[in-house]
Amino acid sequence: MGNPRDLSPRGSQSTSHREYEDFFRYTSGRWIWDEEQQLQDRYKVFNVAELQTAAAKSVGSARCVSMIKLAEGGYNKVFRLIMDDGKTVIARIPNPNAGPPFYTTASEVATMELARSVLHIPVPQVYEWNACADNAVGSEYIIMEEAVGTQLGDAWDEMTPVSKLAVMREIVSIEKKLLSLTYGNIYFQSDTVKGAVPAEVLNDVPLDLKSYVSKRFTIGPSADRGFWAKERSSMAIDRGPSVGRREISWIKRYAAPRVADDLLLVSAAQNSPEAHIQLLEKFLKVAPFLINIDKQFLCSTLWHTDLHSPNIFVDGNRITAIIDWQGISAGPLFLQAHPSPLVDYQGRMLLKRPDNFDSLDDEQKAAIKKQISRSTLLQLYLMETQEQNPTLARVFDLDHGKTRRLPVELASNTWDADIVPFREALLNVERYWQELGHDMDCPIHFTDDEVKQHLQDAEGWNEVQDFFDSIEDLVKRDGWTHNETFAAALEFFATLRKVGLKEMTGKERERFEKETRWAEKKSVHRSGFERMLLRKSRTVRRAHQKKWTKKVIEFAIDVAQTDAYLAWKQYRPEPDPGHREPPAAAPSSHPAMSALPQNQAAWLPAKQEKPLKVGPAPYTVPGTGEVVVKNAAVAVNPIDWAKQQIGDVLLGYIKYPCILGGDVAGTVVDVGPGVQRFGLGDRVVAAAVGIAEASNRPAEGGFQLYTVVREYMAAPLPPHISEEQALRRAHDPVHGRRPRAVIITGGSTSVGANAVQLAVAAGYEVVSTASPKNHAYVRSLGASHVFDYRSNTLVRDMLAALKDRSLAGAYAIGDGAVEVCTWVLRRHPFTTNKFIAMAGGSPMGHKLASGLQQDRSSLLISIARSLDPAGVVANIFLDFLPTALASNQFIPAPTPLVVGNGLDMIQEAMDVQMKGVSAQKVVVTLSEGASASGADRR
Ligand SMILES: NC(=O)c1ccc[n+]([C@@H]2O[C@H](COP(=O)([O-])OP(=O)(O)OC[C@H]3O[C@@H](n4cnc5c(N)ncnc54)[C@H](OP(=O)(O)O)[C@@H]3O)[C@@H](O)[C@H]2O)c1
Repeated sequence: MGNPRDLSPRGSQSTSHREYEDFFRYTSGRWIWDEEQQLQDRYKVFNVAELQTAAAKSVGSARCVSMIKLAEGGYNKVFRLIMDDGKTVIARIPNPNAGPPFYTTASEVATMELARSVLHIPVPQVYEWNACADNAVGSEYIIMEEAVGTQLGDAWDEMTPVSKLAVMREIVSIEKKLLSLTYGNIYFQSDTVKGAVPAEVLNDVPLDLKSYVSKRFTIGPSADRGFWAKERSSMAIDRGPSVGRREISWIKRYAAPRVADDLLLVSAAQNSPEAHIQLLEKFLKVAPFLINIDKQFLCSTLWHTDLHSPNIFVDGNRITAIIDWQGISAGPLFLQAHPSPLVDYQGRMLLKRPDNFDSLDDEQKAAIKKQISRSTLLQLYLMETQEQNPTLARVFDLDHGKTRRLPVELASNTWDADIVPFREALLNVERYWQELGHDMDCPIHFTDDEVKQHLQDAEGWNEVQDFFDSIEDLVKRDGWTHNETFAAALEFFATLRKVGLKEMTGKERERFEKETRWAEKKSVHRSGFERMLLRKSRTVRRAHQKKWTKKVIEFAIDVAQTDAYLAWKQYRPEPDPGHREPPAAAPSSHPAMSALPQNQAAWLPAKQEKPLKVGPAPYTVPGTGEVVVKNAAVAVNPIDWAKQQIGDVLLGYIKYPCILGGDVAGTVVDVGPGVQRFGLGDRVVAAAVGIAEASNRPAEGGFQLYTVVREYMAAPLPPHISEEQALRRAHDPVHGRRPRAVIITGGSTSVGANAVQLAVAAGYEVVSTASPKNHAYVRSLGASHVFDYRSNTLVRDMLAALKDRSLAGAYAIGDGAVEVCTWVLRRHPFTTNKFIAMAGGSPMGHKLASGLQQDRSSLLISIARSLDPAGVVANIFLDFLPTALASNQFIPAPTPLVVGNGLDMIQEAMDVQMKGVSAQKVVVTLSEGASASGADRR
């Protein structure tokens, strides 16, 4: 909110630029790049005194005494004006970037009036408006009633579930009212808009209402900004739904490719008008088929596309006003209809509290309550929609709705936005052509080379998206940040620049240095970081060298090796009860408090501090369901060094000082209340979860002498495990039916060596990859075929090995693996499940993987996020590992590489892992005994 201005008497008479500068310019935030352009797009000078006069006149007052700017959006400035007799009005001035002059305002006002007077939706009344800038105010404007009630954005979080439910029901009933009318933006008949036709209500409503609407309103050209941006406003194009043809015309005439050394040049395809035109032509070929659906779904309807909390006002549970009707138009229902962001929820649905809810801390409880509340609201909204708006409910359920909708949505601006998602959308059309219900061949085809090229482009593209998603609280995609966070945002990019400069060499460094100089000293250049991410991902894939950028992304995604477990769960033979370890008796008390052991840890004291600092750490008494393990050996995972290198971009929630380390093996020395499975002296292997978001406490970190371990994250370690026995392990052929196959690449990685065994235990035939020197090793783990991941014939070889096999899916580990798996899944004729699980490989892999089975859910679980005691990871420790380890069905793999003994060696071990290892698990022992016997080796 701005400061109220006393406008009397001098203020109301004069409009000095300097005095009203804050009214004219954008003041609600900053951009850390391209700021000048962004500000210019929103800079609007107008005659303040004339606006006040018009406002006063519109409500019959003598004069305006106060005017403040309310929070402004990207396209408008909104002012609150108070009159001498106490009346208040809202004035809305569109920014230059709001859309086509005249049409934007004329359509907004007519739509508001239609919604208010015809549909009886609570919408503020417009007192006065002018859609031609050629007036005394010097700008288009709308003067309207101030919305009654409280802005829902301020009230929503505090509302009771019952109130939220009531508001949700009202939204459904408003949506019900909106579901009518034909295509185009709404105008007043009196505005005689060229090309407009009378608005026709199609529904079964009284004749006098039909006639009122067709006399008072018209349907005319779209005011969608996409139809008017840049030169499109002066082109003779049909402003109806012909998005594809419009874009082809515009690109042919105006798209100017960037020169080779332009800093903003992203990819050859993005820079090639022909590439865009070819795709748009493909789009035009399939477009008619995409809408080959129930005619009701194509019915042109009016839809408020921005029904989020700042645009809704309430009084108690009642909606009193819906605002911001700018750009709202009628269009095909299946393209328009999205649930209001207020009720929409993309996270995991959770409708009841987990069993361990009472044992969680307050923060965890609050997070779960929020998840339940959002899941419930969405569920109830969908149920209410089913009852009130059954057609809409069917649209939400439409099979391959996204496959049909996305090409249309994305076709609208590939040149200035991005070619990659559009190409992906069209690839999906070809991929799902038959599932879309067509018998004939798909009219478009992408060659293998085109798909391959797309996969490469998409990898970088998704990495950039994920990077920006991860910092969205600080900086938006276009560089916008709050006024208060501007300095912090600049500092963030300056730090990132430092890391980049440290990691790069030669020409690459030179260019990066030039591109990102603005981060040191703000300038108008756009970020070079996007391009750095794109380029880095390719460089890394090729050279396996500078890993940091890719690692940021990899570990942020951090998918666990548990999908194979799910498969195992489905097919495992009933375990022989004779192999089960009887649960150890829980001890009756803790060791005497006075004799608490002296703990030490290798701390990460602060963000990006290196080396780790070894020093005293508290000894934590175990809580309910926890034990304390005296660690004999700890292992290093890539996430440990990545967190240290990168800082808060990765696992930003972690508080410092913290203790990293995710794998421990040792002896139980303390047992908390309720523990059933372990007793003092038991040797265990466990996942240490200190850096998981739901834990975030040093006591549970691995890099210390005593780690608090959750009972369900540990398994007993049988005394007989050794490398020798492990390598002698026999693989029993699967009894009975012919096994289904699964691809697990990277069989010699730590993750892969375990996944291969889990899948084999589940009865799968495994096809894997590794360097030739490790083929025998991976076969010894149970894989039936192992290929060199560098081979040019890899896809072909895999397909040959999988011939006549039913293929259940793939687990992609290693650079380039997602690509290979995608190819094999696409071409394999008997793939039962087109699912690619990913072990922290590129996020593109994940997105394409889910793309392969669009509209179905994909399972992505990471140890850092999987602390559910009833979840998959817990089940591995509880059900599978105890018997599998005891019976040698599962061996610790790969071979340990013991870097040294003692906490001091952990930093070195992290550095060794960072440099790269082959078929080895990097381990530090913490006691003489463990390293000597090898029994605790992992
Ligand atoms: N989700 C989790 O909880 C979790 C935990 C740990 C790791 N991860 C992720 O899983 C992946 C593997 O981690 P890790 O600790 O298992 O790695 P690692 O053991 O350190 O990986 C080293 C191995 O990678 C193999 N390799 C390198 N490039 C490959 C490629 N293009 N295709 C197949 N194999 C390749 C090498 O095989 P050769 O020596 O045979 O060439 C080497 O044996 C990483 O992406 C990591 O982020 C996830």
